[in-house]
Amino acid sequence: MDEDRRDDERYMDEAFALAERGRGMTHPNPLVGAVLVRDGAVVGRGWHAGPGKSHAEAVALREAGPAARGATLYCTLEPCAHHGRTPPCADALVAAGVERAVVAMGDPNPLVDGRGFDRLRGAGIAVDTGEGRWAAQARGQNAAFVKAMSCGLPLVTCKSAVSLDGKVAAAGGDARWISGLESRRLAHGLRAAADAVMVGAGTVRRDDPALTVRHVEGRDPARVVVSRRGEIPVSCRLVASARQTRTIVLAERFAPPARAALDAAGVETLEMGDEGLAGGLRLLAAGGLFDVLCEGGPQLTGALLAEGLADRIVLFVAPLLVGRGAPDLLAAPAVTTIAAATRLTGVTWERAGDDIVLRADMPAAVRSRDLRPQGDVVDRTEAVTRSEAGF
Ligand SMILES: NC(=O)c1ccc[n+]([C@@H]2O[C@H](COP(=O)([O-])OP(=O)(O)OC[C@H]3O[C@@H](n4cnc5c(N)ncnc54)[C@H](OP(=O)(O)O)[C@@H]3O)[C@@H](O)[C@H]2O)c1
Repeated sequence: MDEDRRDDERYMDEAFALAERGRGMTHPNPLVGAVLVRDGAVVGRGWHAGPGKSHAEAVALREAGPAARGATLYCTLEPCAHHGRTPPCADALVAAGVERAVVAMGDPNPLVDGRGFDRLRGAGIAVDTGEGRWAAQARGQNAAFVKAMSCGLPLVTCKSAVSLDGKVAAAGGDARWISGLESRRLAHGLRAAADAVMVGAGTVRRDDPALTVRHVEGRDPARVVVSRRGEIPVSCRLVASARQTRTIVLAERFAPPARAALDAAGVETLEMGDEGLAGGLRLLAAGGLFDVLCEGGPQLTGALLAEGLADRIVLFVAPLLVGRGAPDLLAAPAVTTIAAATRLTGVTWERAGDDIVLRADMPAAVRSRDLRPQGDVVDRTEAVTRSEAGF
């Protein structure tokens, strides 16, 4: 590898690491990191810290000041070219006299989508996308944003704690605690990084969970309950704390008294309509909730997987044996042959105390539903106004 290329790799690695600092805070905006380099020295660094805050490029430009003239920008995402809450970064880079921009990927947001590159090139800035060599890393870093922008659905991770024999509760429905404390800490970290945590009404009725972040530092995600008629007890913890932590009930069709009671308690009530779960998930994405962690029981998890709406699985496998008659991981019909079973990809595992944490991706073929964009897509900078205003 020649020297210039090695430098590009090094500075882009730093930009990715800077972007990562915003994890869990930028929603509904993407993670972005930026580094400005002149004469072999870093003169500015920035990352996006969330809606209403400066974009990464603007932060780096501010730090660099006049040293940005003649500099090279390393940025994980295409600079924006439209007026959102903040002025266009592409214009600011041009005005500052940046000479070259090395950018990991184009912004799939239709409001940007190449316009940032056009603006830079039009002003004589050399734009280098590294022949796509950072594209996979960049897409992975912003997987939820990329999915929502491309098809209007959130990225859904199904998380469950299972016994060695694949049970998520005892025969009486008791599930506390299958996994150990170390696993629960990791699970709370997943919550803190997600935009929303989702369960089915069965889990609310049985376990009455709070779905807040407690075992690690981090902010609480929005909480979503899925139900056919919205009939969940108003005395449950989620409803009782809806004015402190955003709580949404997604129902196929609300029973009117159930909806009235939820509305009165400060719960957001949304009808999924004929499209069912897919329609409900579309509503979440349209409201800026792009990264959804499902902590539901066998029915909801089974439905998400069966309908091709789940992207990833995280299983906390505990050294417990529960036995026959207890709820399985998935309430979904079994395939008749192993050849017809779904084989997951991208499998990784780690230990957490006595548990094994297994992560895997659903194969692309299973996620190949009709994913054409429907309805509005969200502006990287304006989305917050929409989500603050409700749906
Ligand atoms: N070990 C674990 O990780 C874990 C995690 C969660 C739960 N659990 C255990 O799982 C058990 C509960 O199982 P569960 O299957 O009842 O939980 P669940 O899947 O969370 O909830 C089921 C309910 O969700 C709603 N629902 C599911 N799919 C739907 C769809 N496609 N459209 C509309 N609504 C839908 C329905 O609510 P309505 O009835 O209101 O229509 C359904 O009754 C409990 O014993 C709990 O402790 C274990």
